[in-house]
Amino acid sequence: MTSKISLICVSPEQREQVVRDFARPQGTDITVHVGGARTLLAVLQKEQPNVVLLDLPEPDDSDFELIDAATQRVTGAMVLLVSRDASMNTLKRAMRAGVRDVLSAPLSGETLKVALDYLREARANTSRFGDSAGEVHAFIPAKGGCGATFLATNLAYVLAKSGRRVLLIDLNLYFGDAATYLTDRKAPATVVDMARQAQRLDSALLESSVLKVRENLNVLVAPDMPYQLEQVTAESVAAIIELARTEYDFIVLDLGRAMDPPTVKALDVADRIVMVVEQSLPALKDARRMAQVFDGLGYGRDKVRMVINCFAKSSLIRAEDVEKATGLSVARQIPASDEAVRAAINHGDPLPRLTPKDPVAKALQQWAQELSPMTVKAEKSWFATLTGGL
Ligand SMILES: Nc1ncnc2c1ncn2[C@@H]1O[C@H](COP(=O)(O)OP(=O)(O)OP(=O)(O)O)[C@@H](O)[C@H]1O
Ligand SMILES: [Mg+2]
Repeated sequence: MTSKISLICVSPEQREQVVRDFARPQGTDITVHVGGARTLLAVLQKEQPNVVLLDLPEPDDSDFELIDAATQRVTGAMVLLVSRDASMNTLKRAMRAGVRDVLSAPLSGETLKVALDYLREARANTSRFGDSAGEVHAFIPAKGGCGATFLATNLAYVLAKSGRRVLLIDLNLYFGDAATYLTDRKAPATVVDMARQAQRLDSALLESSVLKVRENLNVLVAPDMPYQLEQVTAESVAAIIELARTEYDFIVLDLGRAMDPPTVKALDVADRIVMVVEQSLPALKDARRMAQVFDGLGYGRDKVRMVINCFAKSSLIRAEDVEKATGLSVARQIPASDEAVRAAINHGDPLPRLTPKDPVAKALQQWAQELSPMTVKAEKSWFATLTGGL
């Protein structure tokens, strides 16, 4: 797979130097431009690169505003800032603007190598792409109320927005309410209805059973009342998920904490388990127990990803403490945003739609971007022709 990389240099002299000095690694298609933050949107739109290296020795507020606007308009590309100022403050501002990382100036062959490493990592995370089987991500709270449903539903929304076909399956059979985080509309059928027909599952049945929330985003809802749950067996859950894999790019499972056979089957067949924790002692205790259960079930470290929700740096329980207690590394931290999250849940609307600039929305966009990098277009872009490429 060719990697498309766009470099935005500060001056024509720098562009010439880059064209002269850079060796082009195999399998890469590199284009070089002169410009700044203002050039980013046009490059993202016209070239659809996998990675942009944006050279801004001293970025200021207006640069970050332009980057923010560009990364919100066009998602999917990984933007790396090359700057003389790699302070924590700049890094934070950059990340809030949708930048993946800040690399130290000057722009060099080494910078390019780092960019390619990032891309390889992102692709390894999505190795299923291309074989047409959807990825299954199972969300489970280490303790009730840690935010698993909120994160599952809102990440599903952002993935769908970036053009991926996403199915959210609510397997919280007793108290499932995932659909209400996204819409107030009612579903035509539930997981129980699908499970009852496990013998005759096909795409048409799935299509007619899901609640269509918006383009690319459907939900298979949990039942309103916990009736006939015995129909939802480990086998029927596996059959529904396997069918969904053939129809969707991402299948997001919202799970309850009961380790009953359907839940364990869902965890078994998932490609990734996202264990959501928070920085509290009870959550830490339950996270430790859950990590032990996962270990007993034979799930490797690659499969289980731990996410700290409502992360606060000032908390007495630090990320290292959570790691030490569980033996798992923290894959991601999502900040707290009480008002915005409450408003989104109470409106039944995804937070990134209501408040796209909220830090939680930014964190979800970053997450989705890492899971779903832009697909590469084969044809040469007009920009490559213009600049001659490398
Ligand atoms: N990042 C966040 N910032 C602030 N509040 C949050 C955040 N994430 C979740 N919450 C709050 O936590 C509450 C519980 O979230 P959610 O329903 O997703 O939890 P859960 O882990 O699915 O719990 P359950 O055990 O009920 O399934 C939400 O009502 C929301 O107000
Ligand atoms: Mg939940």
